[in-house]
Amino acid sequence: MPTTFFTIANQKGGVGKTTSAINLGAAIASKNISCLLVDLDPQANATSGLGFEKEEGQSLYQAILEEEKADSKVRETSTKNLFLIPSEVDMAAVETELANSKNYLVRLRETLRAIKKSKRFKAVIIDCPPSLGMLSMNAMAASDFLLIALQCEYLAMEGLGQILSVLRQLQEAGVNPDLELGGIMMTMYDVRTNLSRQVASDVRQHFGKDVFSTMIPRSIRLGEAPSFGQTIFEYDPLSAGAIAYQELSTEVIKRFKLK
Ligand SMILES: Nc1ncnc2c1ncn2[C@@H]1O[C@H](COP(=O)(O)OP(=O)(O)OP(=O)(O)O)[C@@H](O)[C@H]1O
Ligand SMILES: [Mg+2]
Repeated sequence: MPTTFFTIANQKGGVGKTTSAINLGAAIASKNISCLLVDLDPQANATSGLGFEKEEGQSLYQAILEEEKADSKVRETSTKNLFLIPSEVDMAAVETELANSKNYLVRLRETLRAIKKSKRFKAVIIDCPPSLGMLSMNAMAASDFLLIALQCEYLAMEGLGQILSVLRQLQEAGVNPDLELGGIMMTMYDVRTNLSRQVASDVRQHFGKDVFSTMIPRSIRLGEAPSFGQTIFEYDPLSAGAIAYQELSTEVIKRFKLK
């Protein structure tokens, strides 16, 4: 079976991209589907959230700039079937260095080509920084599907137009004609507030089936887990957040035929 590449993005900060990348990835892995998480964010939150130190030389930085292969950067995590290519602060320099290089939009795709060819993973999830710069565009250019994390809060949909227009540009300019909107993940949903419910219903009205049925609840446990370097399934497997990410993974596996 081929490898399906996903980008998790939203130029808004703190909306649950990394939490979703880690826990959706871990949930997919728990169903015996090999999954590689690529941390493309210089903040390296997915890296530390999985219990790895932020070390120089471990990221895709050199590989992207020198068009080397990425295989040697793959690390095993404490979750079976879940692997990680870590990030580090140096990744930030990719933004400026790529701007001056040729084929600057498809460099990550080239870097990941060997991984795609090897079919070692069924799913690759790329976690993006909160911007629509070079790194996020490279992630989208390398992916089959864009997953947007959307926080259930006031003005959640503001800015969605921008990311969707980047998606369209990458399709239409021929950079990645196959890229599709894979889905919108609603995060930090708070059943107790009218605002959360209102936002969720507005988003569903606009985007219909593109929105996953599962909503990720606001949960203190989800916020705590990364400070222990653990997925929610290691930290508190019976919590509402763990159950939600399991349910989301079931939807994702079905929607994208990962099994
Ligand atoms: N469902 C949730 N309930 C409670 N806290 C959450 C939830 N999801 C994420 N958080 C917390 O909110 C903060 C932002 O989440 P996260 O890092 O996943 O967002 P992000 O979109 O990746 O941020 P950035 O844009 O900085 O990369 C983190 O402290 C995280 O632990
Ligand atoms: Mg993040």
